[in-house]
Amino acid sequence: MLDSNLFHYNGTTLSCDEASLAELARTFGTPLFVTSAKSLIDSYRVFELAFDALPHFTCYSVKANFNLSIIKTFAELGCGCDVNSGGELFRALQAGVSPNRIIFAGVGKKPEEIAYALESGVLMLKAESLSELKAINQIAGEHGKTASVAIRINPNVTAETHPYITTGDSKEKFGIDEAELPEVFALIRQLQNIRLIGLDMHIGSQIFDPEYYVAATEKLLTILNASKALGFVIEFLDIGGGFPVTYDPLKPATPIRHFAEKLIPMLLPTGVKVIFEPGRFLVANASVLLTKILYKKRNHTGKEFFVVDAGMTELIRPALYQSHHEIQSVTRHENTIIADVVGPVCESSDFFARHRAVPDAQEGELLAVMSSGAYAAVMSSNYNGRLRPAEVLVNGSEVKLVRKRETYEQLVQNELV
Ligand SMILES: Cc1ncc(COP(=O)(O)O)c(C=O)c1O
Repeated sequence: MLDSNLFHYNGTTLSCDEASLAELARTFGTPLFVTSAKSLIDSYRVFELAFDALPHFTCYSVKANFNLSIIKTFAELGCGCDVNSGGELFRALQAGVSPNRIIFAGVGKKPEEIAYALESGVLMLKAESLSELKAINQIAGEHGKTASVAIRINPNVTAETHPYITTGDSKEKFGIDEAELPEVFALIRQLQNIRLIGLDMHIGSQIFDPEYYVAATEKLLTILNASKALGFVIEFLDIGGGFPVTYDPLKPATPIRHFAEKLIPMLLPTGVKVIFEPGRFLVANASVLLTKILYKKRNHTGKEFFVVDAGMTELIRPALYQSHHEIQSVTRHENTIIADVVGPVCESSDFFARHRAVPDAQEGELLAVMSSGAYAAVMSSNYNGRLRPAEVLVNGSEVKLVRKRETYEQLVQNELV
C-alpha cells in the first residue's frame, strides 16, 4: 500500500477520490497527470502533526511540483514556499503566496534573481558561497535594502540515497564548508547591507535513515552556538527537505514521526524557529500519470512490451534515477504478465518498468503510473516534439483542469524564422 489511499478501485475501475480515472481520460485525454487534493492536504497534515511540538514553519519546496494550483493548495493551509529560481519565485507569487512566507535558495543565483527576490520582499535568501554573500550585499545596497540572509552549510554528511540526490557531502557543489565559516562570519560583519538571520542545510532527498539528519543537525547546532558567541542573532534553523515516501510497497518509507522523534529533542531547547522544506513528502503520492497502451508486442525471445503514450518526457525518474513506480491498470485485472512498459521516445532509457509483473491489460486500455506527483511534471520536456500533458486536480467528485495540454503551436511559438 502506498502512503495515500486516495487512489483505489471503485468496483473494477481505478479512481482518484470520487473521480473515475477512465472518465478523466475520456474527458481530458492521455497522458494526463491526476492529482488528489485531499492527498496533498493529508500529507501536509501528517507532516505538521509529526512536528507539532516544535515551533516551526514549513515551506513547501515547489521544485517538486510547481503547478500553481498545488502551490495554492498548500499556501491556503498556511504553508510557505521554498523556491530555487526567479521562475519559481514568480510561480509562488502568482499562486498568491505572500512574499514574507517565501525563502529563496539556489547555488547559482543570477544578479537579476537576487534583485527580484529583494524587491519582492522574500523572508530570506540562502547564500551558498562567500562570493554570493558579496553579490547579495552589493545588489541590496544598489536597491537601498538590507538583505535577510541564511547561510547554507555543507555539513559533509553523505546520506544514503541515489548519488544524484545527495547534497550534504563535501564533494558536492552545495553550501559552504565548515572550514570556511570563520571567514564567512568575518565577512558578514563587514557587509553593510546583509543581516544574518538563519543557518540552513539540505542533505539530499528520499533519505530513509533519520540518523543522517541527526548527524547534520548536530553540526548545525555547533555552528549555531559559534555564531551566537560571535554576537549574531539567529532566528531560523533550516533543516531542509529530503523526507522519504514509499514508491515500492516492498520498501516502505520510514514514517515521518521517526524523524520528528529524533529531531524535536535536539531542536526544541535552542528556542530558535525551525524551518522545514519538504517537497517530495507532500506531493509524490498525490498524483498518478495516466497513460494509454498503444501497442503490445512480443519479440523472438518471448519478451513482451507494452508501448504506452507517456514516456520519459513526462516522467524521467526511471531513466534518471532508476526509480521504481508501481503500475496499475485502470480496469482491474487479476492476471499479470511479465513485460517492459515503455514510452514512445527514441531512447532505450524511455521505460517505466522493466521485466515486471504488470496487469495483463489489452491495447487501448489505461495504465496508471503511481506516485508521479514529485519531480515528474516539473521535469517534463518537449524532446521528440512531445507536448507537455494536461494536469487535473480532483477533490471529492470535483475535477479541475489545472494545466492545459500543450499545442503544436506552442511548440514553436518562441522561434523566429
Ligand atoms: C534546498 C532544497 N530544499 C528542499 C528540497 C526538497 O527536497 P525533497 O523533495 O526531497 O523534500 C530540495 C530538493 O532538491 C532542495 O534542493
